[in-house]
Amino acid sequence: MNIEVLEGNWKSDAKRSIKLVTFFEQEQVNSEITELNHSLKEVDFKGKSNDIRIVSLPHIKENFCVVGLGKRDKYSIETYRRALSQALREIKKTGIPSVIATLPGIDGSDVEAFETAYISETTLYEFSKYKSQNHEKSGITEILISGNGDLKSALRRGEILGKSTNYARDFANMPPSEGTPSYFEKLAKEIKNVKVTVIEKDKFKELGMGGLEGVSRAAKEPAKLVIMEYKNSSEKPIAMIGKGIIFDSGGISIKPSAGMQEMKFDKCGASAVLGVMKALSEMNAKVNVIGLAPLTENLPGGNAYKPGDILRHYNGKTSEVITTDAEGRLVMADALSYAVEKYSPKAILDISTLTGACVTALGNNIAGLMGNNQELVNKMLGISSRTWEKVWQLPIDDDFREQIKSTVADIKNTGGSQGGAETAGAFLENFIGTTPWLHLDIAGTAWTQEKTAKKEYVGKGATGFGVRLLTEFSISMFN
Ligand code: BES
Ligand code: ZN
Ligand code: ZN
Repeated sequence: MNIEVLEGNWKSDAKRSIKLVTFFEQEQVNSEITELNHSLKEVDFKGKSNDIRIVSLPHIKENFCVVGLGKRDKYSIETYRRALSQALREIKKTGIPSVIATLPGIDGSDVEAFETAYISETTLYEFSKYKSQNHEKSGITEILISGNGDLKSALRRGEILGKSTNYARDFANMPPSEGTPSYFEKLAKEIKNVKVTVIEKDKFKELGMGGLEGVSRAAKEPAKLVIMEYKNSSEKPIAMIGKGIIFDSGGISIKPSAGMQEMKFDKCGASAVLGVMKALSEMNAKVNVIGLAPLTENLPGGNAYKPGDILRHYNGKTSEVITTDAEGRLVMADALSYAVEKYSPKAILDISTLTGACVTALGNNIAGLMGNNQELVNKMLGISSRTWEKVWQLPIDDDFREQIKSTVADIKNTGGSQGGAETAGAFLENFIGTTPWLHLDIAGTAWTQEKTAKKEYVGKGATGFGVRLLTEFSISMFN
């Protein structure tokens, strides 16, 4: 798809193009075009929110998609994101390939141009790789943005973030037997200006990565710790670790079979980090970021790790395995402590589909945020408030630390179902030393199910949650 600023004289062409125009709710909606006004009156369009109409005016050779934004005093940029996304879905049905989008003119043209590009990319994304025929391929090939000022760079940034989000979604949506650690490695190596190194499965033991070694023991696909370095600043790096469980069967503590297919999405944290690396590289961002992805299947087998096993992690701490289904924290533990020791990052951040408890606590639209540094937490909350990627802080305190103490090892990998998101956070806290750290639990937000109500622009399957958030966070750490 081509996204550009509309320049010069544009000739209307009722076959090829459609103008997207937004209106606030009023008794009488007024546009500058008499013919359009007439027709809006006829169809009783008042600009109510979610009211979207396609209006064709053959005598002036123009098509319009009019979009209601609802009441002006209730408006926020999220209103625009949703309205635009819904409108694009309607336009897609018409088969008209070129959209001219006029901006609402409330938040500043650069912000609105950025959102328009970003939302267009994420709305029109399709995971159609495995559909042999009749899949609804988007007919929209061009979005032209009409607004004041120099919008080019904002637009490019939105486009890059949208495309990188989709890059993450493409990997996250892959079937578990094909979206393998090796495939991830290949995708990472396709990102320009990113140096990729891989720690292979046979090195886990000698390096002392007992979590990765244990969880990957019964995996058939070769497990990997993929490290991606994007260095475009001489400052100390930040490190970002994404949980990459290619498929989480639960292992010996096997999950119930109903819904197990969704556990292909247990690689969404790693996918998000992949998308962030891509975005930073395409933007030529002046940052120094190390992305790490511990990647493995979690499967049962005669050689699988077992409940009762004790694993020694990279920093020397030991953990007792109570359930092999709490595998995410075990692999993250090694990746976190490796990143801390190897790169001395000025901040470390992890993103993981870690606990069902987080989904119970915060639902499907808000991710859990934990950390050891309130300043960093506040920074993340601030950035999140400008994106659609909502986060909510959860506590890690001594009661949760107490809950995961083990009688035979330093800690155990579950503290039971109560406070499950927080005890998982308390577990990870053992592996970051004093480095300022943030933990994002995206178990609820990483993908959508048919039954959970979702935002239009998020679509079906993997959402790419975290790509925009962590890219903007990274950039903000180097200003
Ligand atoms: N990948 C799951 C977490 C998960 C569950 C993500 C549901 C999305 C939806 C994780 O590995 C897991 O199984 N966690 C267990 C931990 C428990 C056994 C302590 C859970 O949340 O049930
Ligand atoms: Zn699990
Ligand atoms: Zn898992």
